[in-house]
Amino acid sequence: MIILTSAKQMIEFARNECKLDKTIGFVPTMGFLHEGHLSLVKRSLSECDTTVMSIFVNPLQFGPNEDFDKYPRDLERDTILARQSGVDVLFIPEAKEIYPSSLSISMKAKQRTDVMCGASRPGHFDGVITVLTILFHLVQPDRAYFGQKDAQQAAVVQGLADSLMFPLEIVPVETVREEDGLAKSSRNVYLTDDERNEASILYQALMKGKIQLPALGIEGTVKEMTEMINSSSSGQIDYIEILQFPDLTPVEKLRGKIIIALAVQFEKARLIDNVIFTLEEE
Ligand code: PAF
Repeated sequence: MIILTSAKQMIEFARNECKLDKTIGFVPTMGFLHEGHLSLVKRSLSECDTTVMSIFVNPLQFGPNEDFDKYPRDLERDTILARQSGVDVLFIPEAKEIYPSSLSISMKAKQRTDVMCGASRPGHFDGVITVLTILFHLVQPDRAYFGQKDAQQAAVVQGLADSLMFPLEIVPVETVREEDGLAKSSRNVYLTDDERNEASILYQALMKGKIQLPALGIEGTVKEMTEMINSSSSGQIDYIEILQFPDLTPVEKLRGKIIIALAVQFEKARLIDNVIFTLEEE
């Protein structure tokens, strides 16, 4: 595995791969790798000649009161995991490589961001699309891989790629879960033992919501899920939303592709999860 740290090295590497007619698969991460990230690597390895993973905790996507400083980091462990999983190039830039000077433009994601995490974390997706625009320019991928746990992120990034005509394919990859259904996340390490036990209710509530939606409708389903989570966990529900996917617009008729998404704040960890499914016309 090659480790690159500068923007210049990354561009040179990508140009060379292009000359050799090799396809590049890109797995952008903020590190503290878990099986979810490694499933993205696996998919990239199966579809591309070269797999590049980046590890960069992007300050621009954290709000002033969010966990940028406390975001879990372990570069040594990440390097071992990346190597073992078959990553060809690990790109670990410092902030000055990604943002060498103050940005003279700002990017704003205008669609798919006024709901779910976009509503609770103002500016978050603007930071995500900014860093990904920079990373896409440096890595020049043919495909970029995103976990469906962050379904809103994948939908917004698809909008970025479409609007700015990035010549690449955005590939959403299914969420990897613990045995009890909890979605794998770097932030799970911040759950206390009790919270960790309670957290399986999130996926159970999503599955119940999916089954009950046709009978209970949106309001009834959200109410039922809220009661379920509140009665079995100390976490505070930030949102439970049921929307059309991938446009994240209100559901007018219960048909087509639907997402039920939630965010729950535990003492030190804010967890998100979702289920996406299709309802056939009655
Ligand atoms: O999902 C993440 O880890 C981050 O939002 C990403 C895509 C690496 C951008 O910083």
